[in-house]
Amino acid sequence: MKNPRAKHNFVSRTCSITGVGSYVPERILTNADLEKMVETTDEWITTRTGIKERRIAAADEFTSDLAAKAAQRAMEMAGITADQIDLIIVASITPDMPFPNTACLVQQKIGARRVPAFDIEAACSGFLYALEVGQNFIASRAYETVLVIGAEKLSSITNWKDRNTCVLFGDGAGAAILQNRANSHGLLTTALGADGGKADLLSMPGGGSRCPASAQTVLDGLHFLRMDGKETFKNAVQAMCSAANEVLERCEIDITKIKCVIPHQANQRIISAVGERLNCTPEQVFVNLHKYGNTSAASVAIALDEAVRSGKVQHGDLILIVAFGAGLTWGAAIIEW
Ligand code: UT7
Repeated sequence: MKNPRAKHNFVSRTCSITGVGSYVPERILTNADLEKMVETTDEWITTRTGIKERRIAAADEFTSDLAAKAAQRAMEMAGITADQIDLIIVASITPDMPFPNTACLVQQKIGARRVPAFDIEAACSGFLYALEVGQNFIASRAYETVLVIGAEKLSSITNWKDRNTCVLFGDGAGAAILQNRANSHGLLTTALGADGGKADLLSMPGGGSRCPASAQTVLDGLHFLRMDGKETFKNAVQAMCSAANEVLERCEIDITKIKCVIPHQANQRIISAVGERLNCTPEQVFVNLHKYGNTSAASVAIALDEAVRSGKVQHGDLILIVAFGAGLTWGAAIIEW
């Protein structure tokens, strides 16, 4: 196994993940519940997506609240307190508000010091983008302890009358503490990509500078997430496979050596297609989509936390994380746990 960090002199320090944590809201919305809201069936949702239920945040529970709870759990596992955090990065497409950023709100909620805090918006790939940014701050010695979070309240931008999208998404958050640990395991490599030429496939057009919020934009439903499902599906499989292969090749690791593949949890058919093309066994691939649906930036972060806490991943195991989302954006990472 090759350590690609060795190629880059400036990336001189290992970035270890010393703690992970996640949080999902209490309320469960089942496929049976959705049958009463739109013209759909449990059978359609299960066979076309693999999703059985998803979590929905309370009206007074915001993305920053979910993020702060996930962060607390990650800090507990890492054995640190909030005053040890040097930088906070939140990945989300459903910030509490356009500004200030959600990372600042999380800083206040967890009682961190007045450390830098910013958001990254790369949709479902957001957690991987945040990991790479955080890793580079550790490697460059700018900061010692970085809190990285993927958090979403997608229920706030879901059109509950559109059966094409409302059955797919859920709310939740996942977090990781990044630190340098001498002679320890950590992130081996990350690969990110984007294609703005396909921005229209998956978007929320209203509320920005192009379509500022107005009575008309609300009437036109521009503040809801919209997606061309079929085209997104095709692009997801292709981009996730090529990102995964890129990091495997870079580290000269054969897929059989990966203990746990953590794909973005959008659709069981996408996960299966990616798994087959990468020649993974079903046992290698971590799936929790049936419980939470697609939680965008939180998806792989929650899955990583569950894989670690369930014992699926043990010290020394290799993990491959791969994600895809609006932008289009995609990314993959290999972690030696
Ligand atoms: O996280 C970012 C990445 N996101 C993704 O990767 C999502 C990618 N896309 C997908 O997962 C799938 O394309 C969907 C699950 C969204 C849709 O599955 P599909 O197999 O591509 O279905 P479709 O859009 O082609 O729709 C097939 C039929 C349509 O009816 P007609 O036109 O054939 O009569 C839809 O109207 O299924 C209908 N349909 C539904 N029927 C019952 C769509 N949604 C539903 C529904 N219940 N909820």
